[in-house]
Amino acid sequence: MSKKVFIKTYGCQMNVYDSKRMADVLKPHGYSVSESSDDADLVILNTCHIREKAAEKVYSEIGRLKQIKTAKAAQGNDMYIAVAGCVAQAEGPEMMRRAPTIDMVLGPQTYHRLPDMLKTAGEQRAAGRNSARVLDTEFPTETKFDHLPEESAYSGPAAFLTVQEGCDKFCTFCVVPYTRGAEYSRPIADIVEEAKRLVASGVVEITLLGQNVNAYHGALADGGTANLGDLIHALDQIEGLGRIRYTTSHPRDMDDTLINAHRDVASCMPYLHLPVQSGSNAILDAMNRKHTRESYFDIIDRLRAARPDIALSSDFIVGFPGETDQDFEDTLDLVRRVKYAQAYSFKYSPRPGTPASVIEQQVDESVKSERLARLQALLNEHQLEFNTNSIGREMDILLEREGKLEGQLLGRSPYLQAVHVDVTSHENTLDADADKPYSGFMGKLVRVRITEAGPNSLKGELVGALH
Ligand code: 5AD
Ligand code: SF4
Repeated sequence: MSKKVFIKTYGCQMNVYDSKRMADVLKPHGYSVSESSDDADLVILNTCHIREKAAEKVYSEIGRLKQIKTAKAAQGNDMYIAVAGCVAQAEGPEMMRRAPTIDMVLGPQTYHRLPDMLKTAGEQRAAGRNSARVLDTEFPTETKFDHLPEESAYSGPAAFLTVQEGCDKFCTFCVVPYTRGAEYSRPIADIVEEAKRLVASGVVEITLLGQNVNAYHGALADGGTANLGDLIHALDQIEGLGRIRYTTSHPRDMDDTLINAHRDVASCMPYLHLPVQSGSNAILDAMNRKHTRESYFDIIDRLRAARPDIALSSDFIVGFPGETDQDFEDTLDLVRRVKYAQAYSFKYSPRPGTPASVIEQQVDESVKSERLARLQALLNEHQLEFNTNSIGREMDILLEREGKLEGQLLGRSPYLQAVHVDVTSHENTLDADADKPYSGFMGKLVRVRITEAGPNSLKGELVGALH
């Protein structure tokens, strides 16, 4: 019988990837993906635990789902609620106690066991329970990657591909080493095979994912290991793969092979998300980052020497315990020196079980808010300046979806800027269909002249199609 699953994803791109793979795992068991929880037989919340707010949102969503589940039960229809991801991993048993409406809790490493869990849950519900009680948050010895189905339920020109998972760095503020476990790298042959399948299904751009993606050290067929730079060289050989990106990187693992890949590999995009977190050496030390502001500047210099136009991005935490005004000024100074094309910044949020959460000198909420506002104003200024500098330039844009306006498609520049492209003006309509003369451009790399820039996106005109 055909059934529907609705998956709501919170947090990082790894969760987006995992959600898609959960849908792939369920497909052979009769589940198709639904866009809404209203008509779903199974709802999966794929959760994020990185900051407090993320977990709170999950509990309020469960409250909403409970009403739907109860209404359905009154009509004799079954609905299952599953919580997956990092909140599930960190707080599974507590979640089940706090929200008895949850049927299943599964960690990020056990989603390949979903069909078995569903079977058990079905048996428990058939035995008369309102909710099942299935919990699986192990770190099993087999990996979820060994169970990926050949066919994916998804398509589109830009795809994610997980190459590495977990983290051994133990930054003192971060839950990831506890929720995602130890570092693991997939063998290079498996990744190349998955990438080939993606390209065969129309994918032009692949973003390699890992919590510490540049710590990648995957097994080679001959017994050696490959680092991320080697992997990028290998993937560049795949015909039809136009763009390679990777995220998220740690400054400590930015080696020369990888830096030089930005110079030598045409498909390796000139964009790097390299979180620094703070510009103060005292705070970096307290965060256990194991890099300094100086070593970070050195990496940036080497990257810019290899690829002068590289666009940089970062994550920042303000109000880490013990952060003084001077520490914060050091962060602003670092930002002025590096000049990021874009960045993410957060107020420090104490995470249970992490070393920083028990440091006594926590920073006042009002100070955090004020610092965050100042930092974001500076980052926004630089982002707008970066975007404005794009006006008049020609760039290759990968068109990913329809824009809001008729005749407008939305894509990404090499520097990951969102670009609205007017495709109607160009006479080359490729293999157009009559209703939408521009639809032939969808999923293609095209040449675009940038005409306007805003804080979050660009506008441009089509100059020509590339392939
Ligand atoms: N508080 C605030 N921000 C955090 N991050 C990770 N843990 C915390 C925390 N406890 C941020 C970091 C990281 C990004 C994914 O989330 O900047 O790079
Ligand atoms: Fe968290 Fe640090 Fe690991 Fe990144 S490197 S996942 S911030 S512990």
